[in-house]
Amino acid sequence: MKYRQLSGADLRLSLVGMGCASFWGKSNFSEKHAIEVFAAAAASGINYYDTGSSYSGGHAEQRLGRALHAHPDGKDAVISSKAGTRIGRWGKLYNDFSPAWIRQSCENSLRHLQIDHIPIFFLHGPNPEDFTAALFEELEQLQKAGKIGLIGVNAFAEPSLQSCFDFPQIQCIMLDFNIYQPQRCEMIKQFKAAGKNVFVAGALAGAIYDDRFWRFQGRKSLWYWLRAWKNNPQLKAMKKQMKFLNDSPNLTATQLALAYVLNNPDLSTALVGSTRVEHMQELLQAVDVQLEPALIKRIESQAQQLGL
Ligand SMILES: NC(=O)c1ccc[n+]([C@@H]2O[C@H](COP(=O)([O-])OP(=O)(O)OC[C@H]3O[C@@H](n4cnc5c(N)ncnc54)[C@H](OP(=O)(O)O)[C@@H]3O)[C@@H](O)[C@H]2O)c1
Repeated sequence: MKYRQLSGADLRLSLVGMGCASFWGKSNFSEKHAIEVFAAAAASGINYYDTGSSYSGGHAEQRLGRALHAHPDGKDAVISSKAGTRIGRWGKLYNDFSPAWIRQSCENSLRHLQIDHIPIFFLHGPNPEDFTAALFEELEQLQKAGKIGLIGVNAFAEPSLQSCFDFPQIQCIMLDFNIYQPQRCEMIKQFKAAGKNVFVAGALAGAIYDDRFWRFQGRKSLWYWLRAWKNNPQLKAMKKQMKFLNDSPNLTATQLALAYVLNNPDLSTALVGSTRVEHMQELLQAVDVQLEPALIKRIESQAQQLGL
C-alpha cells in the first residue's frame, strides 16, 4: 500500500480507502461478510474508511462502528463521515445544512461510530447557498470541541465544487473522478494547488465496464444493476466504450480502471466499495500498476467520445 500525507493535519491516508456505503452497509447484507471485507482491507494496509450518516439507509455508519471495534486495527483507522442529508419518509433523502442539524448529525455519527473524534467531516452534497457564515461557525465550534478534525465537502456538481475555492475552511474535497471523467484532472490539480486535499469518490465508476459486473450473483447484482441504470443514462454506450479493458491478459478491467485513477499524482486517496474479500484483494494489486501512456491516452479518448 502507498500512503499520502494530508495537508492541514497530521494524517497519513492509504492511497486506496474503503467506502463503507452502498450494498456493504445494507442491513440485508451479512454483517459477518461485511466485517470480513473490512478485515481484508485492513490486512492489505488500508487505514482510511469513509462513510456517511445517510448511507445504506442509515445502517453503514453503525456497521463501520462495529467493524472498527471488532478488528484490532480499528483503533488506528482514519474515519470520515458526512452530514447534511437526512432520511425522510419512505427513505427519501433531503438536504439540511442548518447548524442545528449539522451538530446533531455529528453527535449521532460519533455515537454510531463509537468514537469521540471524526478526523474528516464532510458536508454531503451542499449547494453554494448552503455555505453560510452560521454553518462555518458551527463547524468551527465542533472543531474547537475536538469532535471533528478537517472540514470537507463531498460534491459532484460544478457550482458547488467551484464555490469550495472561496472558503479556506474547506480543506478536503471529495469529488467524482474515474475512467469516464478525465476532464476532472484539471480541477483536481487546481484544488491541490490551492492547498486542499482531494478525495476520489466512486473511483471504480461502479465497475460497469467489467464483464463480471453483469454476471448474476443474487439480489446484490439486482441492486447494483438498478443503481447503474439509474445513475448512468448512457449506460450502454459507457459499457461499450470501455469494453477493451477486459482484454488485458494480466490485469482485470476494474484493476486497470482503478490504476487510471491512482496514476493521478494530485490525489490524497481514492475510495472503492466492495462486498467481496477477493475483489478487495484484487483491487489492491492495482496500487503499484503504472499504466502505459498509450493506454491512458486510449481511456481518455474513449471517454471524450462519450462527451459526459
Ligand atoms: N458513488 C457515489 O455516488 C459516491 C458518492 C459519495 C461518496 N462515495 C464514496 O465512494 C465509495 C465507493 O463508491 P461505490 O461504493 O458507490 O461504488 P464503486 O466503488 O464505484 O463500485 C462498487 C462496485 O464495484 C464492484 N467491484 C469492486 N471491486 C471489484 C473487483 N475487484 N472486480 C470487479 N468488480 C468489483 C463492486 O462489486 P462487489 O461488491 O461484488 O465487489 C460494486 O459492484 C463509497 O462507498 C463512498 O465512500 C461514492
